[in-house]
Amino acid sequence: MKIKVSEFVKSSSGIEQCPPPEKAEFAFIGRSNVGKSSLINMITSRKSLAKTSSRPGKTQLINHFEIDKKWLLVDLPGYGWSKVSKQKKADWGIMIEEYLLKRENLACLFVLIDSRLAPQPIDYEFIAWLGEQEIPFVLVFTKTDKQSKTKFQSIKAKHVREIKNNWEEMPMMFESSSVDQTGREQILNFIGEIVSDFKM
Ligand code: GTP
Ligand code: MG
Repeated sequence: MKIKVSEFVKSSSGIEQCPPPEKAEFAFIGRSNVGKSSLINMITSRKSLAKTSSRPGKTQLINHFEIDKKWLLVDLPGYGWSKVSKQKKADWGIMIEEYLLKRENLACLFVLIDSRLAPQPIDYEFIAWLGEQEIPFVLVFTKTDKQSKTKFQSIKAKHVREIKNNWEEMPMMFESSSVDQTGREQILNFIGEIVSDFKM
Protein backbone atom coordinates (compact mmCIF):
# COMPACT_ATOMS: atom_id res chain seq x y z
CA MET A 1 0.00 0.00 0.00
CA LYS A 2 1.20 3.52 -0.80
CA ILE A 3 0.56 6.62 1.29
CA LYS A 4 -0.19 9.95 -0.36
CA VAL A 5 -1.28 12.35 2.37
CA SER A 6 -0.68 12.18 6.12
CA GLU A 7 -2.04 14.87 8.37
CA PHE A 8 -1.92 15.55 12.08
CA VAL A 9 -5.50 15.60 13.39
CA LYS A 10 -5.28 16.33 17.11
CA SER A 11 -3.83 15.48 20.51
CA SER A 12 -6.27 14.21 23.12
CA SER A 13 -5.95 13.65 26.84
CA GLY A 14 -8.91 11.26 26.93
CA ILE A 15 -11.14 9.14 24.75
CA GLU A 16 -13.92 11.76 24.70
CA GLN A 17 -11.66 14.13 22.80
CA CYS A 18 -10.53 11.61 20.19
CA PRO A 19 -11.79 12.04 16.61
CA PRO A 20 -15.11 10.29 15.82
CA PRO A 21 -14.51 6.51 15.67
CA GLU A 22 -15.39 6.13 12.01
CA LYS A 23 -12.22 4.91 10.32
CA ALA A 24 -9.86 1.99 10.94
CA GLU A 25 -7.29 3.00 13.53
CA PHE A 26 -3.82 1.58 14.30
CA ALA A 27 -2.11 2.61 17.52
CA PHE A 28 1.55 2.31 18.51
CA ILE A 29 2.51 1.53 22.08
CA GLY A 30 5.58 0.34 23.99
CA ARG A 31 8.16 1.55 26.46
CA SER A 32 9.31 5.12 26.38
CA ASN A 33 12.03 5.70 23.82
CA VAL A 34 11.38 2.40 21.97
CA GLY A 35 10.76 4.37 18.77
CA LYS A 36 6.97 4.72 18.41
CA SER A 37 6.96 8.26 17.07
CA SER A 38 9.94 7.56 14.80
CA LEU A 39 8.16 4.54 13.33
CA ILE A 40 5.11 6.66 12.52
CA ASN A 41 7.38 9.11 10.70
CA MET A 42 9.11 6.27 8.87
CA ILE A 43 5.83 4.69 7.76
CA THR A 44 4.42 8.00 6.53
CA SER A 45 7.79 9.09 5.03
CA ARG A 46 7.60 12.33 6.99
CA LYS A 47 10.54 13.67 8.98
CA SER A 48 8.62 15.10 11.89
CA LEU A 49 4.93 14.38 11.63
CA ALA A 50 5.14 12.78 15.08
CA LYS A 51 7.47 14.47 17.56
CA THR A 52 10.48 12.40 18.60
CA SER A 53 13.19 12.90 21.19
CA SER A 54 16.23 11.11 22.55
CA ARG A 55 14.82 11.84 26.02
CA PRO A 56 12.14 9.36 27.13
CA GLY A 57 8.66 10.70 27.84
CA LYS A 58 8.31 12.88 24.76
CA THR A 59 4.82 11.76 23.73
CA GLN A 60 2.35 12.48 26.53
CA LEU A 61 -1.04 12.55 24.82
CA ILE A 62 -3.05 10.42 22.38
CA ASN A 63 -2.01 11.79 18.99
CA HIS A 64 -4.11 11.07 15.91
CA PHE A 65 -2.86 11.23 12.32
CA GLU A 66 -5.14 10.73 9.35
CA ILE A 67 -3.78 8.88 6.33
CA ASP A 68 -5.27 9.44 2.88
CA LYS A 69 -8.57 10.47 4.54
CA LYS A 70 -9.18 6.77 5.03
CA TRP A 71 -7.49 5.46 8.16
CA LEU A 72 -5.77 6.68 11.32
CA LEU A 73 -2.42 6.18 12.99
CA VAL A 74 -2.15 6.87 16.72
CA ASP A 75 1.00 7.76 18.62
CA LEU A 76 0.61 6.91 22.31
CA PRO A 77 2.77 7.82 25.31
CA GLY A 78 5.27 5.18 26.39
CA TYR A 79 5.09 3.14 29.55
CA GLY A 80 7.90 2.36 31.98
CA TRP A 81 9.53 5.74 32.15
CA SER A 82 10.99 6.05 35.65
CA LYS A 83 11.47 9.81 35.83
CA VAL A 84 7.84 10.65 36.27
CA SER A 85 5.71 11.14 39.37
CA LYS A 86 3.43 8.37 40.64
CA GLN A 87 0.41 10.58 40.04
CA LYS A 88 1.36 11.21 36.44
CA LYS A 89 2.00 7.52 35.86
CA ALA A 90 -1.45 6.73 37.25
CA ASP A 91 -3.09 9.39 35.04
CA TRP A 92 -1.35 8.06 31.92
CA GLY A 93 -2.28 4.49 32.86
CA ILE A 94 -5.95 5.46 33.13
CA MET A 95 -5.85 7.38 29.85
CA ILE A 96 -4.21 4.54 27.92
CA GLU A 97 -6.29 1.79 29.49
CA GLU A 98 -9.51 3.63 28.73
CA TYR A 99 -8.38 4.25 25.17
CA LEU A 100 -7.46 0.60 24.61
CA LEU A 101 -10.62 -0.78 26.19
CA LYS A 102 -13.14 1.61 24.69
CA ARG A 103 -11.91 2.75 21.30
CA GLU A 104 -14.34 0.97 18.98
CA ASN A 105 -12.43 1.56 15.76
CA LEU A 106 -9.05 0.29 17.07
CA ALA A 107 -8.31 -2.28 14.38
CA CYS A 108 -4.93 -3.37 15.69
CA LEU A 109 -2.41 -2.31 18.31
CA PHE A 110 1.30 -2.39 17.43
CA VAL A 111 3.34 -3.26 20.51
CA LEU A 112 6.91 -2.08 20.01
CA ILE A 113 9.84 -3.87 21.64
CA ASP A 114 13.48 -2.81 21.43
CA SER A 115 15.16 -5.49 19.32
CA ARG A 116 18.31 -5.32 21.49
CA LEU A 117 16.57 -6.44 24.66
CA ALA A 118 15.78 -9.93 25.92
CA PRO A 119 12.14 -10.34 27.05
CA GLN A 120 11.29 -7.80 29.76
CA PRO A 121 8.53 -8.35 32.36
CA ILE A 122 7.03 -4.92 31.74
CA ASP A 123 6.32 -5.75 28.09
CA TYR A 124 5.05 -9.25 28.73
CA GLU A 125 2.80 -8.19 31.60
CA PHE A 126 1.27 -5.65 29.27
CA ILE A 127 0.91 -8.24 26.48
CA ALA A 128 -0.75 -10.69 28.90
CA TRP A 129 -3.24 -7.98 29.79
CA LEU A 130 -3.97 -7.38 26.09
CA GLY A 131 -4.71 -11.09 25.77
CA GLU A 132 -7.08 -11.05 28.75
CA GLN A 133 -8.89 -8.05 27.31
CA GLU A 134 -8.93 -9.55 23.79
CA ILE A 135 -7.33 -6.50 22.26
CA PRO A 136 -5.88 -7.43 18.85
CA PHE A 137 -2.14 -6.74 18.66
CA VAL A 138 1.04 -7.48 16.73
CA LEU A 139 4.68 -7.10 17.81
CA VAL A 140 7.33 -4.89 16.23
CA PHE A 141 11.01 -5.28 17.08
CA THR A 142 12.44 -1.78 16.64
CA LYS A 143 15.91 -0.31 15.98
CA THR A 144 17.22 -3.38 14.14
CA ASP A 145 19.93 -1.17 12.57
CA LYS A 146 21.61 -0.97 15.97
CA GLN A 147 22.91 -4.54 16.02
CA SER A 148 23.91 -7.47 13.82
CA LYS A 149 21.37 -9.86 12.34
CA THR A 150 22.83 -12.81 14.25
CA LYS A 151 22.61 -10.99 17.57
CA PHE A 152 19.01 -10.13 16.85
CA GLN A 153 18.13 -13.70 15.84
CA SER A 154 19.27 -15.00 19.22
CA ILE A 155 17.24 -12.33 21.04
CA LYS A 156 14.20 -13.01 18.86
CA ALA A 157 14.44 -16.72 19.73
CA LYS A 158 14.13 -15.79 23.41
CA HIS A 159 10.99 -13.81 22.68
CA VAL A 160 9.51 -16.66 20.68
CA ARG A 161 10.18 -19.01 23.60
CA GLU A 162 8.58 -16.57 26.05
CA ILE A 163 5.47 -16.29 23.87
CA LYS A 164 5.19 -20.03 23.23
CA ASN A 165 5.18 -20.63 26.98
CA ASN A 166 2.14 -18.44 27.42
CA TRP A 167 0.18 -18.43 24.18
CA GLU A 168 -1.33 -21.04 21.91
CA GLU A 169 -0.84 -18.93 18.85
CA MET A 170 2.10 -16.73 17.82
CA PRO A 171 1.16 -13.10 17.20
CA MET A 172 2.31 -11.54 13.97
CA MET A 173 5.85 -10.13 14.31
CA PHE A 174 7.57 -7.37 12.38
CA GLU A 175 11.11 -6.02 12.46
CA SER A 176 11.73 -2.34 11.94
CA SER A 177 14.35 0.34 11.63
CA SER A 178 13.37 3.96 11.26
CA VAL A 179 16.92 4.64 10.07
CA ASP A 180 17.04 2.26 7.09
CA GLN A 181 13.27 1.78 6.55
CA THR A 182 13.31 -1.91 7.41
CA GLY A 183 9.76 -3.19 7.84
CA ARG A 184 7.98 -0.30 6.14
CA GLU A 185 6.49 -2.31 3.29
CA GLN A 186 5.49 -5.27 5.46
CA ILE A 187 3.76 -3.06 8.04
CA LEU A 188 1.99 -1.00 5.37
CA ASN A 189 0.78 -4.08 3.52
CA PHE A 190 -0.54 -5.54 6.76
CA ILE A 191 -2.41 -2.30 7.52
CA GLY A 192 -3.66 -2.10 3.92
CA GLU A 193 -5.33 -5.50 4.12
CA ILE A 194 -7.15 -4.62 7.31
CA VAL A 195 -8.21 -1.21 6.00
CA SER A 196 -9.69 -2.71 2.84
CA ASP A 197 -11.89 -5.11 4.86
CA PHE A 198 -12.73 -2.68 7.65
CA LYS A 199 -16.37 -2.00 8.49
CA MET A 200 -17.63 -0.18 11.55
P1 GTP B 1 8.31 8.41 23.89
O1 GTP B 1 7.41 9.32 23.10
O2 GTP B 1 9.19 9.16 24.83
O3 GTP B 1 7.57 7.32 24.57
O4 GTP B 1 9.35 7.70 22.88
P2 GTP B 1 9.11 7.01 21.45
O5 GTP B 1 8.85 5.56 21.67
O6 GTP B 1 8.10 7.77 20.66
O7 GTP B 1 10.55 7.13 20.78
P3 GTP B 1 11.07 8.14 19.66
O8 GTP B 1 10.47 7.80 18.34
O9 GTP B 1 10.91 9.53 20.14
O10 GTP B 1 12.61 7.71 19.56
C1 GTP B 1 13.45 7.70 20.70
C2 GTP B 1 14.90 7.79 20.26
O11 GTP B 1 15.28 6.61 19.55
C3 GTP B 1 15.19 8.94 19.30
O12 GTP B 1 16.46 9.45 19.62
C4 GTP B 1 15.19 8.29 17.94
O13 GTP B 1 15.99 8.96 16.99
C5 GTP B 1 15.76 6.92 18.25
N1 GTP B 1 15.25 5.90 17.31
C6 GTP B 1 13.95 5.59 17.07
N2 GTP B 1 13.82 4.61 16.17
C7 GTP B 1 15.08 4.26 15.81
C8 GTP B 1 15.64 3.29 14.92
O14 GTP B 1 14.94 2.51 14.25
N3 GTP B 1 17.00 3.22 14.83
C9 GTP B 1 17.81 4.03 15.55
N4 GTP B 1 19.12 3.88 15.42
N5 GTP B 1 17.34 4.97 16.40
C10 GTP B 1 15.99 5.08 16.54
MG1 MG C 1 6.89 9.29 21.17
